[in-house]
Amino acid sequence: MKYLLKNLNVYYKNAFQRADILIDNGTVAAMGSGLFVGGDAAVFDFQGACALPGLVDPHVHLREPGFEYKETVRTGTLAAARGGYTAVCSMPNLKPVPDSGENLKKQLDIIERDAAVTVRPYGAITRGERGGELADMEAMAPYVAGFSDDGRGVQSEDMMRLAMEAARDLGRPIVAHAEDEGLLKKGWAVNSGEYAKAHGLIGNDPESEWRQVERDLELVRETGCKYHVCHVSTKETVGLVRLAKFEGLDVTCETGPHYLTLTDKDLRDDGGFRMNPPIRSEEDREALIEGICDGTVDMIATDHAPHSPEEKSGGLAGSLNGIVGLECAFPVLYTKLVLGNITSLQRLIELMSSAPARRFGLPGGRIEPGEMANIAIFDLEREFTIDPSEFLSMGRATPFAGWRVRGKCLMTLADGKIAWRDADV
Ligand code: DOR
Repeated sequence: MKYLLKNLNVYYKNAFQRADILIDNGTVAAMGSGLFVGGDAAVFDFQGACALPGLVDPHVHLREPGFEYKETVRTGTLAAARGGYTAVCSMPNLKPVPDSGENLKKQLDIIERDAAVTVRPYGAITRGERGGELADMEAMAPYVAGFSDDGRGVQSEDMMRLAMEAARDLGRPIVAHAEDEGLLKKGWAVNSGEYAKAHGLIGNDPESEWRQVERDLELVRETGCKYHVCHVSTKETVGLVRLAKFEGLDVTCETGPHYLTLTDKDLRDDGGFRMNPPIRSEEDREALIEGICDGTVDMIATDHAPHSPEEKSGGLAGSLNGIVGLECAFPVLYTKLVLGNITSLQRLIELMSSAPARRFGLPGGRIEPGEMANIAIFDLEREFTIDPSEFLSMGRATPFAGWRVRGKCLMTLADGKIAWRDADV
């Protein structure tokens, strides 16, 4: 099958240029102006829309196997494609937990059958993500992006040391959900701070995140393992990662769209504002912005974490942790960060595509003749309202519902195939 994508503003070698793209048998066969193909090609005229490298999300929850009532590999990856993503890394808090070759295979078979975009799972660090015993990391290593117990921190320092030594020997990163449970109050709902006090809610102390990052960085120093911090939400974590990089440790980190654009002053008593870690203070938000501008924060992940409507219907105090993000992350960030003059579109592409692709060895991150097409076409002029009822994800909870944003995904080509196409194309 051939596709001729005409009149694009193509992001190529860090700059935009007007060009058409010819996709032949999944690969970018030619790029240039006035391309012509006769016969069997499907031709699309994009009238100046932008062709970006497909977005890459290093942190999503696809919920299958085990929690298909929340999301499936099919619905989650269709949501990814609709948001402009061509590759995602899926988290292991599943049933069964991918903690052995056999359990991982169950997930890989579903991915093989149903995924609309590239999915590279993480293997668990510990058996059942229970923290007591190492998972069979060796059996999983060839198939995974790294190892994570996302949803829970690894509480035992000795266990984390063993995991880092094994991950180092296998050449895979440890992808840490950093959370010291000893520093958490039972029943927390929001960041500890003004909002928690004013509304009589139990607060989550920022220290529960950064203390565990601090511990882990000491272990990285000791073991020499590749280390990535998930959903960074506190200014202290940004500072720790900055120093670790300066020191030369092989450390990267991600933050989420909600931590960059919201603070606990924006909270509403709505399950769409409840996630772990929670949205924090203005000072934390500013530190994260500084981090994405100076390179301390390497990438932006949605932490797409769908739950059923019932599970999200209990307001801040009574909902499960987790919001969806795949279908609105790019327009939210483009509107707030790029149109808001905080960072360049080039930097946003690095944060949302090239950097995660490189770090986790995923396809994409660039548009290059001769390579498989992993391309997201966005109309950056188009303004629209985020309406969760239109999501392809089964999850609907997002703090961005109702936001007016710019940057609509018109088409996504993942691994050479059209994975999403807007009705207007
Ligand atoms: O908000 C969250 N939801 N944070 C996590 O760490 C886990 C995730 C989930 O699996 O729902």
